[in-house]
Amino acid sequence: MTQIIEITNLIRDFKNTRAVDELTLSVEAGELFGLVGPDGAGKTTTLRLLAGLLDITEGEASVLGFDLKEKYESVKPHIGYMAQQFSLYGELSVMENLQFFAELFDVSPTEMSERTERLLAFAGLTEFKERRAVDLSGGMQKKLALACTLIHEPEILLLDEPTTGVDPISRREFWNILTELHLQGTTIIVSTPYMDEADRCSRVGLMYAGKLVECDSPKGIREKLEGDVIEIQPEDWQKTLKVVSTLGGVREAQTYGESIHLLVDSGKRRLPEIESILKKEKLAYRSIRIAPVRMEEAFISLIRKLEA
Ligand SMILES: Nc1ncnc2c1ncn2[C@@H]1O[C@H](COP(=O)(O)OP(=O)(O)OP(=O)(O)O)[C@@H](O)[C@H]1O
Ligand SMILES: [Mg+2]
Repeated sequence: MTQIIEITNLIRDFKNTRAVDELTLSVEAGELFGLVGPDGAGKTTTLRLLAGLLDITEGEASVLGFDLKEKYESVKPHIGYMAQQFSLYGELSVMENLQFFAELFDVSPTEMSERTERLLAFAGLTEFKERRAVDLSGGMQKKLALACTLIHEPEILLLDEPTTGVDPISRREFWNILTELHLQGTTIIVSTPYMDEADRCSRVGLMYAGKLVECDSPKGIREKLEGDVIEIQPEDWQKTLKVVSTLGGVREAQTYGESIHLLVDSGKRRLPEIESILKKEKLAYRSIRIAPVRMEEAFISLIRKLEA
């Protein structure tokens, strides 16, 4: 596999902040790479550096073999960058926005009309093509922004929280498009606050305070959680939660609706203990089991460890 992006000891300083701190990462052609991390971790700064929108303070970064510091102009046509903030022209229609981005990237008129039709259909926006961008729903705006990012057919997509604030159905539609692009061979780096989205990536990088602290497949990230998760579906979750959250070996208790997830040191050891305590306390439950680890649980536990 070819390394399409190579980053070595990358640093970006703002006045008093080191937003990216000796970041090292390589991404292979065709990867769907998810970037996660708490607010202010440096995700946007990393993506903006790769998009050539910020100067590198120190370190190296190359895209398609071109050094970003010297050859940014050669890299630009190969990259599609979608910013975290609204980046469309609100007063322009859907169609005009696409045309604007086509001109910006020197897409020829014939290619443009062929591509706009295809992208409009792809994004489910054909019937809205005359509508002003400001008048679209949030989800549609995101899909239009993605369509504008795709108009010059970039090989590499840098998407900064493209689905934040979008409803679950539009989020799914957006990800269906990303999956399609991934299958066509596009390399995608996408930052996201949603753990179900991180789970759909081929690899996930966890950023914390400007550093890449973990980088693995979603499965690999989940396996980094030390301990097991016990899931209980109690009849009375409030009373049950009170009893189980303070038991030996229980590191954390979370509720999902009316089921309780306990992060314990050892599932095998604690499951029978918890069962017998619930019995003793006469707290009935519909089920209790060692459950698969969720991405979110692994993520929060990794962050807690860093903050400890
Ligand atoms: N233009 C800037 N000037 C000064 N500081 C900045 C600038 N851009 C980012 N920073 C700082 O750099 C750090 C990293 O910010 P960045 O936006 O990259 O984080 P992020 O991971 O994208 O966060 P979020 O999840 O909130 O989008 C933060 O401390 C931020 O305040
Ligand atoms: Mg950001």
